[in-house]
Amino acid sequence: MTYRPLALVTGASSGIGLELALEFARNGYDVALSGSSAQIFDAAKRIEDLGATAYAYRADAATHEGVESFWQFTLGLGRPLEAAALNVGIGLGGAFIDTALEDDLRVIAINITGTVHMAKNVARFMVAQGHGRILITSSVSATLPTPFETVYGPSKAFGFMFAESLREELRESGVTVTALLPGATDSRFHKNAGMARSAIDQGPKNDKTLVARQGYEALMKDLDHVVGGDDTTRQMVEENRITPEPVKAARHARLTRLNP
Ligand SMILES: NC(=O)c1ccc[n+]([C@@H]2O[C@H](COP(=O)([O-])OP(=O)(O)OC[C@H]3O[C@@H](n4cnc5c(N)ncnc54)[C@H](OP(=O)(O)O)[C@@H]3O)[C@@H](O)[C@H]2O)c1
Repeated sequence: MTYRPLALVTGASSGIGLELALEFARNGYDVALSGSSAQIFDAAKRIEDLGATAYAYRADAATHEGVESFWQFTLGLGRPLEAAALNVGIGLGGAFIDTALEDDLRVIAINITGTVHMAKNVARFMVAQGHGRILITSSVSATLPTPFETVYGPSKAFGFMFAESLREELRESGVTVTALLPGATDSRFHKNAGMARSAIDQGPKNDKTLVARQGYEALMKDLDHVVGGDDTTRQMVEENRITPEPVKAARHARLTRLNP
């Protein structure tokens, strides 16, 4: 019997998560993958077409039960877990005074609470087994204020510093942690966030396959973080490090304000 390592990927029905799952499969991994829609089973089919075994699970990552049940499903496979991509995340565009509170809280439930919940399970499991690699999908949004996505950007800043913090804590445990910071990427993300009428959704996007490959390679090289995207995206992040927050905020507002 051939041994294939197992990777877990959340938010893998489409977009960057699906590309990460395909990247794991291309590199010899079987994949446990989750999403909230039936599309997760189509994603599993694409992974199996690459010769990997896919274990698809449908659950709502906005709920404690949804996160925990996917973890229990993965544990139930009875296999070591070599890698975990905590990727699921949603956006929300619009002026803060206009968005529904329940939608703001859903961003926090998926991007922050759900990520912490899954990371707790994964980190404990991997430390006990003595090895493993954790990838957390943050965003370039973690490096600037994000008006008109005022809850989303800070949720991704949380993901970035959470990954960097956990990485240091686990440094001698055999478990690595890497943050992936994609720039604007060609998925349904902005449309799903209600941002189809924004300049950012209509502007240039990075290739999701490239972003996922960069995340995978950074994970394998044990980098603390990697920017996902082209040279312009990487340069923007460098500039963000030395640009005052109000300047970045005004620039971002021009990209995210919804056009009439
Ligand atoms: N695209 C960008 O411009 C961009 C830039 C920076 C960072 N990111 C980050 O990249 C990650 C992936 O985003 P993406 O661009 O691939 O977005 P996407 O195309 O909208 O994909 C989101 C994925 O999450 C799943 N999902 C959404 N809500 C869910 C829920 N409640 N429970 C379980 N799964 C759920 C979706 O599957 P179902 O439809 O089956 O639920 C889908 O697989 C996110 O963390 C995002 O913050 C994206």
